[in-house]
Amino acid sequence: MLWAVALFLITAFILKHWLSSKSFNLPPGPRGLPLIGHFHLLGRLPHISLQQLSKRYGPLFHLRLGSVPVFVVSSPEMAKEFLKNHDTEFAYRPRNNAVSIVMDCRSMSFSPYGDYWKKLRKLCATEIFTAKRVSMNTQIIRDELWELSGELLRASKAGQVVGVRPHLRALSFNVMTRILMKKTYFGSKASGDPAIAKEASNFIAMIDEILEVGAAFSITDYFPYLSWLDLVARRAKVAGDKMNGFLQKVLDEQRPGEVPDFVEITRSHIGNDAGNLRALLMDLLLGGSETSSTVTEWALAELLHHPDWMVKAQQEIESVVGRTRMVEEGDISKLEVLNAIIKESFRLHPPIALLVPHASIEAQKVAGYDIPKNATLLVNVYAIGRDPQVWSDPLEFQPQRFIGSNIGVSGQDFELLPFGSGKRSCPGLALGLRNVQLVLSNLLHGFEWEFPGSPKDQPMGEAMGIVNFMAHTLKARITPRLHESAYTTLQLTE
Ligand code: HEM
Repeated sequence: MLWAVALFLITAFILKHWLSSKSFNLPPGPRGLPLIGHFHLLGRLPHISLQQLSKRYGPLFHLRLGSVPVFVVSSPEMAKEFLKNHDTEFAYRPRNNAVSIVMDCRSMSFSPYGDYWKKLRKLCATEIFTAKRVSMNTQIIRDELWELSGELLRASKAGQVVGVRPHLRALSFNVMTRILMKKTYFGSKASGDPAIAKEASNFIAMIDEILEVGAAFSITDYFPYLSWLDLVARRAKVAGDKMNGFLQKVLDEQRPGEVPDFVEITRSHIGNDAGNLRALLMDLLLGGSETSSTVTEWALAELLHHPDWMVKAQQEIESVVGRTRMVEEGDISKLEVLNAIIKESFRLHPPIALLVPHASIEAQKVAGYDIPKNATLLVNVYAIGRDPQVWSDPLEFQPQRFIGSNIGVSGQDFELLPFGSGKRSCPGLALGLRNVQLVLSNLLHGFEWEFPGSPKDQPMGEAMGIVNFMAHTLKARITPRLHESAYTTLQLTE
Protein backbone atom coordinates (compact mmCIF):
# COMPACT_ATOMS: atom_id res chain seq x y z
CA MET A 1 0.00 0.00 0.00
CA LEU A 2 2.78 2.43 1.02
CA TRP A 3 4.62 1.61 -2.19
CA ALA A 4 1.52 2.41 -4.24
CA VAL A 5 1.12 5.80 -2.54
CA ALA A 6 4.82 6.59 -3.01
CA LEU A 7 4.66 5.57 -6.68
CA PHE A 8 1.56 7.71 -7.20
CA LEU A 9 3.19 10.77 -5.58
CA ILE A 10 6.41 10.41 -7.56
CA THR A 11 4.51 9.94 -10.85
CA ALA A 12 2.31 12.96 -10.08
CA PHE A 13 5.40 15.02 -9.25
CA ILE A 14 7.21 14.05 -12.48
CA LEU A 15 4.09 14.63 -14.56
CA LYS A 16 3.50 18.06 -13.00
CA HIS A 17 7.11 18.99 -13.56
CA TRP A 18 7.08 17.69 -17.13
CA LEU A 19 3.85 19.46 -18.00
CA SER A 20 4.99 22.74 -16.50
CA SER A 21 8.34 22.58 -18.32
CA LYS A 22 6.48 21.88 -21.60
CA SER A 23 4.45 25.06 -21.32
CA PHE A 24 7.63 27.13 -20.74
CA ASN A 25 10.48 27.56 -23.18
CA LEU A 26 13.15 26.77 -20.59
CA PRO A 27 16.85 26.67 -21.40
CA PRO A 28 18.32 23.16 -21.53
CA GLY A 29 19.27 21.30 -18.40
CA PRO A 30 19.96 17.83 -17.08
CA ARG A 31 17.20 15.52 -15.90
CA GLY A 32 16.51 16.01 -12.21
CA LEU A 33 15.45 13.62 -9.48
CA PRO A 34 12.08 13.83 -7.74
CA LEU A 35 12.03 16.23 -4.79
CA ILE A 36 15.76 16.97 -4.58
CA GLY A 37 16.04 18.07 -8.22
CA HIS A 38 19.71 18.42 -9.11
CA PHE A 39 21.38 18.67 -5.71
CA HIS A 40 23.19 15.41 -6.37
CA LEU A 41 25.04 17.06 -9.30
CA LEU A 42 26.69 19.70 -7.11
CA GLY A 43 30.03 18.60 -5.74
CA ARG A 44 32.20 20.05 -2.99
CA LEU A 45 33.03 23.03 -5.22
CA PRO A 46 29.73 23.97 -6.93
CA HIS A 47 31.32 26.44 -9.40
CA ILE A 48 33.41 23.57 -10.82
CA SER A 49 30.44 21.17 -11.01
CA LEU A 50 28.45 23.91 -12.79
CA GLN A 51 31.36 24.64 -15.14
CA GLN A 52 31.36 20.95 -16.13
CA LEU A 53 27.59 21.03 -16.70
CA SER A 54 27.89 24.15 -18.88
CA LYS A 55 30.21 22.21 -21.22
CA ARG A 56 27.29 19.88 -21.88
CA TYR A 57 24.25 22.19 -21.59
CA GLY A 58 25.62 25.47 -22.88
CA PRO A 59 25.96 29.09 -21.74
CA LEU A 60 22.54 29.18 -20.10
CA PHE A 61 21.10 26.07 -18.50
CA HIS A 62 18.61 25.38 -15.80
CA LEU A 63 18.49 23.21 -12.70
CA ARG A 64 16.12 22.74 -9.84
CA LEU A 65 17.43 22.70 -6.29
CA GLY A 66 14.62 21.38 -4.12
CA SER A 67 11.73 23.70 -4.96
CA VAL A 68 13.91 26.52 -6.34
CA PRO A 69 14.46 26.96 -10.11
CA VAL A 70 18.08 27.93 -10.77
CA PHE A 71 19.52 29.37 -14.00
CA VAL A 72 23.24 29.24 -14.60
CA VAL A 73 25.07 31.66 -16.90
CA SER A 74 28.53 30.69 -18.20
CA SER A 75 29.37 32.99 -21.13
CA PRO A 76 30.15 36.72 -21.46
CA GLU A 77 27.22 37.18 -23.86
CA MET A 78 24.70 35.64 -21.46
CA ALA A 79 26.22 37.54 -18.52
CA LYS A 80 25.66 40.77 -20.46
CA GLU A 81 22.10 39.73 -21.29
CA PHE A 82 21.21 39.30 -17.59
CA LEU A 83 23.47 41.83 -15.82
CA LYS A 84 23.15 44.66 -18.37
CA ASN A 85 20.10 44.21 -20.60
CA HIS A 86 17.95 42.83 -17.74
CA ASP A 87 19.92 44.38 -14.86
CA THR A 88 16.98 45.78 -12.86
CA GLU A 89 14.81 42.67 -13.27
CA PHE A 90 17.60 40.48 -11.82
CA ALA A 91 18.79 42.90 -9.14
CA TYR A 92 17.00 40.96 -6.40
CA ARG A 93 18.53 38.29 -4.17
CA PRO A 94 17.11 34.83 -3.50
CA ARG A 95 16.11 33.92 0.02
CA ASN A 96 19.10 33.13 2.25
CA ASN A 97 17.75 32.06 5.57
CA ALA A 98 21.09 31.94 7.40
CA VAL A 99 22.08 35.46 6.32
CA SER A 100 18.61 36.78 7.21
CA ILE A 101 18.99 35.37 10.70
CA VAL A 102 22.56 36.64 11.20
CA MET A 103 21.88 40.15 9.90
CA ASP A 104 18.26 40.39 10.94
CA CYS A 105 17.20 40.77 7.25
CA ARG A 106 18.87 44.20 6.95
CA SER A 107 22.05 43.33 5.08
CA MET A 108 22.91 45.33 1.96
CA SER A 109 24.20 42.23 0.16
CA PHE A 110 20.95 40.32 0.60
CA SER A 111 18.35 43.13 0.77
CA PRO A 112 15.77 43.02 -1.99
CA TYR A 113 16.14 45.63 -4.70
CA GLY A 114 14.09 48.48 -3.20
CA ASP A 115 14.17 51.75 -1.26
CA TYR A 116 16.24 50.56 1.72
CA TRP A 117 18.89 48.95 -0.52
CA LYS A 118 18.98 52.08 -2.73
CA LYS A 119 19.59 54.24 0.33
CA LEU A 120 22.53 52.05 1.37
CA ARG A 121 24.05 52.05 -2.11
CA LYS A 122 23.69 55.84 -2.30
CA LEU A 123 25.44 56.14 1.06
CA CYS A 124 28.30 54.00 -0.30
CA ALA A 125 28.57 55.93 -3.56
CA THR A 126 28.38 59.45 -2.12
CA GLU A 127 30.10 59.05 1.25
CA ILE A 128 31.91 55.82 2.02
CA PHE A 129 33.65 54.89 -1.23
CA THR A 130 34.22 58.29 -2.82
CA ALA A 131 37.61 58.86 -4.48
CA LYS A 132 38.57 61.16 -1.56
CA ARG A 133 37.77 58.54 1.05
CA VAL A 134 39.47 55.73 -0.86
CA SER A 135 42.55 57.93 -1.01
CA MET A 136 42.31 58.59 2.78
CA ASN A 137 41.88 54.88 3.37
CA THR A 138 44.95 54.20 1.24
CA GLN A 139 46.94 55.80 4.07
CA ILE A 140 45.60 53.11 6.38
CA ILE A 141 46.60 50.37 3.91
CA ARG A 142 50.13 51.82 3.74
CA ASP A 143 50.38 52.00 7.51
CA GLU A 144 49.31 48.35 7.78
CA LEU A 145 51.87 47.47 5.10
CA TRP A 146 54.51 49.14 7.25
CA GLU A 147 53.45 46.88 10.12
CA LEU A 148 53.51 43.82 7.85
CA SER A 149 56.97 44.68 6.41
CA GLY A 150 58.30 44.80 9.97
CA GLU A 151 56.91 41.32 10.67
CA LEU A 152 58.31 39.96 7.41
CA LEU A 153 61.74 41.53 8.04
CA ARG A 154 61.83 39.88 11.48
CA ALA A 155 60.72 36.52 10.04
CA SER A 156 63.33 36.68 7.27
CA LYS A 157 66.12 37.53 9.74
CA ALA A 158 65.10 34.54 11.86
CA GLY A 159 65.17 32.35 8.70
CA GLN A 160 61.51 31.42 9.21
CA VAL A 161 59.20 30.04 6.55
CA VAL A 162 56.24 32.42 6.34
CA GLY A 163 52.62 31.25 6.14
CA VAL A 164 51.28 34.02 3.91
CA ARG A 165 47.53 33.93 4.58
CA PRO A 166 47.42 34.92 8.27
CA HIS A 167 49.53 38.00 7.47
CA LEU A 168 47.37 39.08 4.52
CA ARG A 169 44.20 38.38 6.46
CA ALA A 170 45.35 40.38 9.48
CA LEU A 171 46.25 43.29 7.19
CA SER A 172 42.86 43.27 5.45
CA PHE A 173 40.96 42.96 8.73
CA ASN A 174 42.91 45.80 10.30
CA VAL A 175 42.28 47.99 7.25
CA MET A 176 38.54 47.35 7.46
CA THR A 177 38.19 47.67 11.25
CA ARG A 178 40.29 50.84 11.24
CA ILE A 179 38.13 52.36 8.50
CA LEU A 180 34.81 51.25 9.94
CA MET A 181 35.37 51.20 13.71
CA LYS A 182 38.70 52.94 14.32
CA LYS A 183 39.97 49.75 15.95
CA THR A 184 43.08 47.66 15.34
CA TYR A 185 42.85 44.00 16.27
CA PHE A 186 46.07 42.48 14.92
CA GLY A 187 49.79 43.24 14.93
CA SER A 188 52.05 45.08 17.35
CA LYS A 189 49.50 47.84 18.09
CA ALA A 190 47.08 45.21 19.40
CA SER A 191 49.20 42.32 20.65
CA GLY A 192 50.47 44.17 23.75
CA ASP A 193 46.98 44.16 25.22
CA PRO A 194 45.72 40.66 26.16
CA ALA A 195 42.09 41.89 26.16
CA ILE A 196 42.40 43.05 22.52
CA ALA A 197 44.24 39.85 21.53
CA LYS A 198 41.33 37.83 22.96
CA GLU A 199 38.77 40.05 21.26
CA ALA A 200 40.69 39.62 17.97
CA SER A 201 40.70 35.83 18.13
CA ASN A 202 36.97 35.82 19.00
CA PHE A 203 36.37 38.18 16.13
CA ILE A 204 38.17 35.97 13.59
CA ALA A 205 36.34 32.87 14.90
CA MET A 206 33.01 34.72 14.47
CA ILE A 207 33.83 35.79 10.91
CA ASP A 208 34.87 32.23 10.01
CA GLU A 209 31.67 30.83 11.48
CA ILE A 210 29.48 33.37 9.65
CA LEU A 211 31.21 32.68 6.32
CA GLU A 212 30.79 28.95 6.91
CA VAL A 213 27.15 29.26 7.93
CA GLY A 214 26.46 31.57 4.94
CA ALA A 215 27.90 28.96 2.55
CA ALA A 216 26.29 25.95 4.26
CA PHE A 217 23.21 24.28 2.84
CA SER A 218 20.22 25.66 4.74
CA ILE A 219 17.30 23.31 4.16
CA THR A 220 14.77 26.16 4.63
CA ASP A 221 15.96 27.86 1.43
CA TYR A 222 15.17 24.88 -0.79
CA PHE A 223 12.55 22.91 1.15
CA PRO A 224 10.65 25.57 3.17
CA TYR A 225 8.25 22.94 4.55
CA LEU A 226 11.21 21.21 6.24
CA SER A 227 12.44 24.34 8.02
CA TRP A 228 11.97 22.63 11.41
CA LEU A 229 14.89 20.36 10.45
CA ASP A 230 17.22 23.29 9.72
CA LEU A 231 20.40 22.89 11.79
CA VAL A 232 22.16 25.66 9.86
CA ALA A 233 19.49 28.10 11.02
CA ARG A 234 20.29 27.24 14.63
CA ARG A 235 24.01 27.78 14.04
CA ALA A 236 23.20 31.06 12.27
CA LYS A 237 21.23 32.27 15.29
CA VAL A 238 24.14 31.57 17.65
CA ALA A 239 26.72 33.14 15.28
CA GLY A 240 24.48 36.17 14.61
CA ASP A 241 23.83 36.80 18.32
CA LYS A 242 27.56 36.69 19.06
CA MET A 243 28.53 38.99 16.19
CA ASN A 244 25.71 41.46 16.91
CA GLY A 245 26.72 41.52 20.60
CA PHE A 246 30.30 42.22 19.59
CA LEU A 247 29.37 45.02 17.17
CA GLN A 248 26.93 46.56 19.63
CA LYS A 249 29.74 46.71 22.19
CA VAL A 250 31.91 48.50 19.61
CA LEU A 251 29.12 51.03 18.97
CA ASP A 252 28.46 51.50 22.72
CA GLU A 253 32.15 52.02 23.48
CA GLN A 254 32.25 55.16 21.33
CA ARG A 255 31.87 58.15 23.64
CA PRO A 256 30.32 61.37 22.28
CA GLY A 257 32.93 63.19 20.24
CA GLU A 258 34.82 59.96 19.60
CA VAL A 259 32.27 58.45 17.27
CA PRO A 260 33.99 56.97 14.22
CA ASP A 261 33.38 58.91 10.99
CA PHE A 262 31.83 55.93 9.34
CA VAL A 263 29.19 55.42 12.04
CA GLU A 264 28.51 59.14 12.21
CA ILE A 265 27.98 59.40 8.44
CA THR A 266 25.90 56.26 8.32
CA ARG A 267 23.66 57.50 11.13
CA SER A 268 23.02 60.73 9.27
CA HIS A 269 21.84 58.74 6.24
CA ILE A 270 19.94 55.76 7.59
CA GLY A 271 19.05 56.92 11.10
CA ASN A 272 20.06 55.70 14.51
CA ASP A 273 18.64 52.20 14.32
CA ALA A 274 21.31 50.00 15.92
CA GLY A 275 20.20 46.92 13.97
CA ASN A 276 20.69 48.70 10.62
CA LEU A 277 24.09 50.03 11.70
CA ARG A 278 25.28 46.61 12.87
CA ALA A 279 24.09 44.92 9.66
CA LEU A 280 25.93 47.42 7.46
CA LEU A 281 29.09 47.14 9.55
CA MET A 282 28.97 43.37 9.29
CA ASP A 283 28.30 43.47 5.54
CA LEU A 284 31.26 45.70 4.85
CA LEU A 285 33.54 43.79 7.23
CA LEU A 286 32.69 40.48 5.59
CA GLY A 287 32.69 41.86 2.04
CA GLY A 288 35.88 43.82 2.41
CA SER A 289 38.25 41.58 4.35
CA GLU A 290 38.58 38.11 2.88
CA THR A 291 38.15 39.01 -0.79
CA SER A 292 41.24 41.22 -1.16
CA SER A 293 43.55 38.98 0.87
CA THR A 294 42.41 35.89 -1.05
CA VAL A 295 43.26 37.22 -4.48
CA THR A 296 46.60 38.58 -3.25
CA GLU A 297 47.51 35.12 -1.93
CA TRP A 298 46.56 33.52 -5.27
CA ALA A 299 48.60 36.10 -7.20
CA LEU A 300 51.67 35.48 -5.04
CA ALA A 301 51.26 31.72 -5.43
CA GLU A 302 51.00 32.04 -9.23
CA LEU A 303 54.12 34.22 -9.28
CA LEU A 304 56.05 31.70 -7.19
CA HIS A 305 55.09 29.07 -9.77
CA HIS A 306 56.04 31.50 -12.60
CA PRO A 307 59.24 33.19 -11.38
CA ASP A 308 59.82 34.86 -14.78
CA TRP A 309 56.71 37.00 -14.12
CA MET A 310 57.84 37.69 -10.55
CA VAL A 311 61.12 39.09 -11.93
CA LYS A 312 59.32 41.09 -14.66
CA ALA A 313 57.04 42.68 -12.05
CA GLN A 314 59.96 43.50 -9.72
CA GLN A 315 61.99 45.04 -12.55
CA GLU A 316 59.04 47.17 -13.64
CA ILE A 317 58.39 48.39 -10.08
CA GLU A 318 62.07 49.20 -9.61
CA SER A 319 62.16 51.18 -12.86
CA VAL A 320 59.20 53.31 -11.71
CA VAL A 321 59.86 53.53 -7.94
CA GLY A 322 63.63 53.09 -7.55
CA ARG A 323 65.20 51.31 -4.58
CA THR A 324 64.97 53.95 -1.88
CA ARG A 325 61.23 53.93 -1.20
CA MET A 326 58.18 51.68 -1.28
CA VAL A 327 55.35 51.76 -3.85
CA GLU A 328 52.82 54.58 -3.48
CA GLU A 329 49.30 55.15 -4.76
CA GLY A 330 50.53 57.43 -7.57
CA ASP A 331 52.85 54.71 -8.96
CA ILE A 332 50.13 52.12 -9.53
CA SER A 333 48.82 53.34 -12.90
CA LYS A 334 52.37 53.14 -14.31
CA LEU A 335 52.75 49.47 -13.37
CA GLU A 336 51.40 47.68 -16.45
CA VAL A 337 52.91 44.28 -15.64
CA LEU A 338 51.63 44.38 -12.06
CA ASN A 339 48.11 45.28 -13.21
CA ALA A 340 48.20 42.52 -15.85
CA ILE A 341 49.23 40.01 -13.15
CA ILE A 342 46.32 41.13 -10.96
CA LYS A 343 43.81 40.78 -13.80
CA GLU A 344 45.18 37.35 -14.68
CA SER A 345 44.82 36.30 -11.03
CA PHE A 346 41.21 37.56 -10.98
CA ARG A 347 40.53 35.65 -14.22
CA LEU A 348 41.80 32.33 -12.88
CA HIS A 349 40.81 32.79 -9.23
CA PRO A 350 37.81 35.11 -8.84
CA PRO A 351 37.28 35.36 -5.07
CA ILE A 352 33.47 35.01 -5.43
CA ALA A 353 33.23 32.44 -8.21
CA LEU A 354 29.44 32.51 -8.71
CA LEU A 355 28.94 36.18 -7.67
CA VAL A 356 26.35 36.62 -4.92
CA PRO A 357 23.24 34.86 -6.31
CA HIS A 358 20.80 37.15 -8.15
CA ALA A 359 17.04 36.64 -8.45
CA SER A 360 14.02 37.95 -10.25
CA ILE A 361 10.69 38.27 -8.44
CA GLU A 362 8.67 38.34 -11.69
CA ALA A 363 8.65 35.95 -14.65
CA GLN A 364 10.98 37.23 -17.42
CA LYS A 365 11.76 36.48 -21.05
CA VAL A 366 15.52 36.54 -21.61
CA ALA A 367 17.41 35.53 -24.77
CA GLY A 368 14.20 33.89 -26.01
CA TYR A 369 13.83 31.74 -22.89
CA ASP A 370 11.19 31.86 -20.16
CA ILE A 371 12.58 32.45 -16.70
CA PRO A 372 9.90 31.82 -14.06
CA LYS A 373 9.35 34.17 -11.13
CA ASN A 374 11.46 33.72 -7.98
CA ALA A 375 14.20 32.00 -9.97
CA THR A 376 17.78 32.13 -8.75
CA LEU A 377 20.46 33.31 -11.19
CA LEU A 378 24.06 32.19 -10.81
CA VAL A 379 26.72 33.83 -12.97
CA ASN A 380 29.70 31.49 -13.12
CA VAL A 381 32.55 33.99 -13.52
CA TYR A 382 34.99 31.18 -12.76
CA ALA A 383 33.73 29.22 -15.82
CA ILE A 384 33.82 32.36 -18.02
CA GLY A 385 37.44 32.99 -16.94
CA ARG A 386 38.45 29.47 -18.01
CA ASP A 387 36.42 29.14 -21.21
CA PRO A 388 38.61 28.21 -24.23
CA GLN A 389 36.12 30.02 -26.51
CA VAL A 390 36.86 33.25 -24.66
CA TRP A 391 40.56 32.90 -23.75
CA SER A 392 43.47 31.19 -25.48
CA ASP A 393 45.25 28.62 -23.25
CA PRO A 394 42.69 29.43 -20.54
CA LEU A 395 44.27 27.29 -17.83
CA GLU A 396 47.72 28.87 -18.22
CA PHE A 397 48.85 31.83 -16.11
CA GLN A 398 49.74 34.27 -18.92
CA PRO A 399 49.54 37.90 -17.78
CA GLN A 400 50.79 39.09 -21.18
CA ARG A 401 47.22 38.63 -22.46
CA PHE A 402 46.32 41.81 -20.53
CA ILE A 403 49.33 43.88 -21.57
CA GLY A 404 48.13 46.47 -24.08
CA SER A 405 44.56 45.21 -23.64
CA ASN A 406 41.62 47.42 -22.67
CA ILE A 407 39.87 44.71 -20.68
CA GLY A 408 39.26 45.92 -17.13
CA VAL A 409 37.68 44.56 -13.96
CA SER A 410 35.03 47.23 -13.42
CA GLY A 411 32.14 45.28 -14.94
CA GLN A 412 32.14 46.76 -18.46
CA ASP A 413 33.91 43.73 -19.96
CA PHE A 414 31.78 40.67 -19.47
CA GLU A 415 34.63 38.20 -19.95
CA LEU A 416 36.20 39.39 -16.67
CA LEU A 417 33.74 40.01 -13.84
CA PRO A 418 35.48 39.54 -10.46
CA PHE A 419 33.38 42.38 -8.97
CA GLY A 420 30.16 41.57 -10.88
CA SER A 421 28.45 44.12 -13.11
CA GLY A 422 25.46 46.44 -13.00
CA LYS A 423 23.29 47.48 -10.08
CA ARG A 424 24.43 44.74 -7.69
CA SER A 425 28.12 44.96 -8.58
CA CYS A 426 30.58 45.40 -5.72
CA PRO A 427 30.37 48.87 -4.12
CA GLY A 428 33.86 48.38 -2.60
CA LEU A 429 35.63 47.85 -5.95
CA ALA A 430 37.92 50.88 -5.70
CA LEU A 431 39.00 50.09 -2.14
CA GLY A 432 39.36 46.35 -2.76
CA LEU A 433 41.39 46.83 -5.93
CA ARG A 434 43.59 49.48 -4.31
CA ASN A 435 44.27 47.08 -1.44
CA VAL A 436 45.37 44.29 -3.82
CA GLN A 437 47.50 46.63 -5.95
CA LEU A 438 49.30 48.26 -3.04
CA VAL A 439 49.84 45.10 -1.03
CA LEU A 440 51.03 42.95 -3.93
CA SER A 441 53.32 45.62 -5.40
CA ASN A 442 54.95 46.37 -2.05
CA LEU A 443 55.42 42.70 -1.17
CA LEU A 444 57.13 42.15 -4.54
CA HIS A 445 59.23 45.29 -4.28
CA GLY A 446 60.23 44.75 -0.67
CA PHE A 447 61.08 41.04 -0.73
CA GLU A 448 62.45 38.16 -2.77
CA TRP A 449 60.06 35.22 -2.57
CA GLU A 450 60.82 31.52 -3.01
CA PHE A 451 59.23 28.23 -2.15
CA PRO A 452 60.75 26.65 0.96
CA GLY A 453 60.93 23.30 -0.91
CA SER A 454 59.85 22.00 -4.29
CA PRO A 455 57.07 23.95 -6.10
CA LYS A 456 55.23 20.62 -6.26
CA ASP A 457 54.78 20.84 -2.47
CA GLN A 458 52.53 23.87 -2.94
CA PRO A 459 49.33 22.57 -4.60
CA MET A 460 46.96 25.12 -6.15
CA GLY A 461 43.65 23.49 -5.14
CA GLU A 462 40.67 25.43 -3.80
CA ALA A 463 38.92 25.21 -0.46
CA MET A 464 35.15 25.11 -0.08
CA GLY A 465 33.35 28.28 1.03
CA ILE A 466 31.75 31.58 -0.02
CA VAL A 467 35.21 32.95 -0.79
CA ASN A 468 37.46 30.97 -3.10
CA PHE A 469 40.49 30.38 -0.81
CA MET A 470 43.58 28.33 -1.61
CA ALA A 471 43.08 24.91 0.00
CA HIS A 472 46.67 24.97 1.30
CA THR A 473 47.87 28.27 2.65
CA LEU A 474 50.86 29.58 0.72
CA LYS A 475 54.22 29.10 2.41
CA ALA A 476 57.32 31.01 1.32
CA ARG A 477 60.86 31.87 2.31
CA ILE A 478 61.53 35.59 1.94
CA THR A 479 64.55 37.88 1.92
CA PRO A 480 64.56 41.69 1.94
CA ARG A 481 65.41 43.36 -1.40
CA LEU A 482 65.91 46.91 -0.13
CA HIS A 483 67.83 48.81 2.52
CA GLU A 484 65.90 48.98 5.82
CA SER A 485 65.33 52.74 5.43
CA ALA A 486 63.21 52.16 2.29
CA TYR A 487 60.55 50.30 4.30
CA THR A 488 60.05 53.26 6.63
CA THR A 489 58.62 55.27 3.70
CA LEU A 490 55.38 53.33 4.23
CA GLN A 491 54.85 54.85 7.65
CA LEU A 492 52.01 57.29 8.21
CA THR A 493 53.44 60.77 8.33
CA GLU A 494 50.45 62.82 9.59
C1 HEM B 1 39.15 42.21 -4.20
C2 HEM B 1 38.15 42.63 -3.48
C3 HEM B 1 36.68 42.37 -3.74
C4 HEM B 1 36.07 41.51 -4.62
C5 HEM B 1 36.71 40.58 -5.64
C6 HEM B 1 34.63 41.67 -4.43
C7 HEM B 1 33.67 40.99 -5.17
C8 HEM B 1 32.32 41.18 -5.02
C9 HEM B 1 31.32 40.48 -5.80
C10 HEM B 1 31.60 39.47 -6.90
C11 HEM B 1 30.10 40.89 -5.37
C12 HEM B 1 28.73 40.41 -5.86
C13 HEM B 1 28.32 41.09 -7.14
C14 HEM B 1 26.99 40.57 -7.65
O1 HEM B 1 26.19 40.06 -6.87
O2 HEM B 1 26.75 40.66 -8.85
C15 HEM B 1 30.32 41.85 -4.30
C16 HEM B 1 29.32 42.48 -3.61
C17 HEM B 1 29.54 43.27 -2.51
N1 HEM B 1 30.76 43.68 -2.03
FE1 HEM B 1 32.59 43.23 -2.80
N2 HEM B 1 34.42 42.57 -3.45
C18 HEM B 1 35.63 43.04 -2.99
C19 HEM B 1 35.84 44.01 -2.03
C20 HEM B 1 34.85 44.62 -1.30
C21 HEM B 1 35.06 45.64 -0.31
C22 HEM B 1 36.42 46.25 0.04
C23 HEM B 1 33.83 45.91 0.24
C24 HEM B 1 33.46 46.88 1.32
C25 HEM B 1 34.23 47.47 2.13
C26 HEM B 1 32.86 45.09 -0.43
C27 HEM B 1 31.50 45.08 -0.14
C28 HEM B 1 30.55 44.45 -0.91
C29 HEM B 1 29.11 44.54 -0.65
C30 HEM B 1 28.43 45.29 0.49
C31 HEM B 1 28.47 43.81 -1.67
C32 HEM B 1 26.98 43.61 -1.86
C33 HEM B 1 26.42 44.63 -2.84
C34 HEM B 1 24.92 44.51 -3.09
O3 HEM B 1 24.37 43.43 -2.96
O4 HEM B 1 24.31 45.52 -3.46
N3 HEM B 1 33.51 44.31 -1.35
N4 HEM B 1 31.67 42.01 -4.12
